Amino acid sequence: MCGIAGYIGPKPADQVLIVALERLKYRGYDSAGMAVVNGELHLRRAAGKLKMLADQIDASPVDGHCGIAHTRWATHGPPTEANCHPHLANGGRFTGAVAVVHNGIIENHDHLRRELIEQGCIFQSETDTEVIPQLLATIYLGDSTAAGDPVATVRAALARLEGSFAIAAIFPDHPDRIIAARQGSPLIVGRSRIKDGRREMLLASDIPALLPHAHEMAILDDGVIVDIRSSGAVFGTFSGVPVDAPFKTIEVTADAVSKGRFDTFMEKEIAEQPEVLARLIESRLRGEALVEPDLGLDLAAVNHIVFLACGTSWHAALNGKRYLETLARVHVEVDISSEYRYRNPVASGGTLVVAISQSGETADTLAGVRLAKAKFIPVIGLVNVVTSTIAREAAGVMPLFAGPEIGVASTKAYTAQLTALYLFAAQAAKAKGLLSPEAERKLVTAVRKLPGQVESTLKNSESAVIEVADLFAAASDTVFLGRGGEHPTALEGALKLKEIAYVHASGYPAGEFKHGPIAQVTAKLPVICLCPRDQLREKMLSNIQEVKARAGRIIGVGQADDRELRDLADLVLPVARPDDELLQPILSILPLQRYAYHVAVRRKCDVDQPRNLAKSVTVE
Ligand code: G6P
Repeated sequence: MCGIAGYIGPKPADQVLIVALERLKYRGYDSAGMAVVNGELHLRRAAGKLKMLADQIDASPVDGHCGIAHTRWATHGPPTEANCHPHLANGGRFTGAVAVVHNGIIENHDHLRRELIEQGCIFQSETDTEVIPQLLATIYLGDSTAAGDPVATVRAALARLEGSFAIAAIFPDHPDRIIAARQGSPLIVGRSRIKDGRREMLLASDIPALLPHAHEMAILDDGVIVDIRSSGAVFGTFSGVPVDAPFKTIEVTADAVSKGRFDTFMEKEIAEQPEVLARLIESRLRGEALVEPDLGLDLAAVNHIVFLACGTSWHAALNGKRYLETLARVHVEVDISSEYRYRNPVASGGTLVVAISQSGETADTLAGVRLAKAKFIPVIGLVNVVTSTIAREAAGVMPLFAGPEIGVASTKAYTAQLTALYLFAAQAAKAKGLLSPEAERKLVTAVRKLPGQVESTLKNSESAVIEVADLFAAASDTVFLGRGGEHPTALEGALKLKEIAYVHASGYPAGEFKHGPIAQVTAKLPVICLCPRDQLREKMLSNIQEVKARAGRIIGVGQADDRELRDLADLVLPVARPDDELLQPILSILPLQRYAYHVAVRRKCDVDQPRNLAKSVTVE
């Protein structure tokens, strides 16, 4: 959580940094700030959405060409202006000696704070971060050999910090330098082409914030410090050994990170799903055949898979288990990363851990990856961001090719995860000799039809979705029921509604509903019942009868020509029927994504930036 940005170059730093923060606000958006060097440090900070900071800068621009900025998701101390980053050194001669932005948590901040107060530092915030500028100032203005040298100062301070972090610091004495370091939270350096003999240098937590200025980037590894100047960047380890961090061309375009013709990123990302799936599917096929993924392992030898994931990615994993069990007959466990990492999981030969993460930065999933690796279990990553930490630490990567997902509620990454897991299961089945050439051809035909079915489902369900949203936007509770592959859809539909519309919502396996939760049913409760034509449809129809008998309001999700469902439901959200019913959840979730969106709009919620959340959860 939290986004960091930095800029050195000929453009006004405040203007570049405000755009960078706009691109990082998915990482946290409860307050924001920046510091720019111009003789001394100029600080602008504002509690609330980024617009508050942008308005402040419009009213009072900061003149300068080197600065750092931050968008916050509060951990230590509420989102007040005093707790906003950047934080400055304070107290006597230390005042204004350095400014720092930080992403992560400093675990020994209490101890350091007491020590620094004794040295004359005056603290102004409740954050753990504030110990960093204070510590830097005491070293920089102290009498050790590091004094007066910003890189040596940061290195000496890092030796005292415990926890996980990415930091960036500027010193007014060095007006064209940013010193940054990474230990656990992502950090990327960007650079522009040389123009008139000069470069623009940038720093950010994620690639979109480097655009459109930078055309190349270098990713910092854990334990690396970088000294960024207008002339370039010099990388070294915390202990001072030079590091070669290669710069690579940035593939993401500025268009991919803008809303285009849409009002919100969520709408744009829902609409992008047909093209995202088409791109992903074609990357895994050659002609009529599946391509073996290049994962550096023998899929035929895998007999036990553990999926690690959080949030929406965990829901995708639940369907991944069905795919692997059905197609490849592999034993699969699905684990929530924050649970897995604190157990002592059993490893045996033939076990494979698959970490599923849109961002590839989720702290709990990353910790699970490291735990598995420590037990010598091979790990592969199913990630969208291929430059992410999980992608780099896993032995092999299955990319989603979904493009940047910026709306906090995951949509296109979810359907891409399901599709990628289906193809992975098919590839495992093929490697194990369980997929005949005829079955492979049928599967390829079925999956190739998917993008068109996504498109028609989004189009054909929209008017019914709007009708249901008009009817139930004010409902304080909503229940989602599904069986088999639609149980994860029920969980995901409920999560979408909770996340962006703040409606209390629960998803249940429909057969389990009678064991307690059915007591909630009243004539006011909307119950969204996933009932497409699959092998459990008859069972699901019986479960719907049970709710209807207790006067619940039934919204069916199923095929438009299903007379029985139509007779039972108040309204039906129609979805296309895929050739292979394993693919149905990829279509069933679509009207529920749109439903959450429409309910959120009617409840006047901020769709892309729901309260209390952040897209990339880099703290545990
Ligand atoms: C956060 C987001 C969710 C996301 C989850 C896991 O909680 O708000 O939308 O599903 O993190 O993220 P990951 O990037 O690991 O898939």
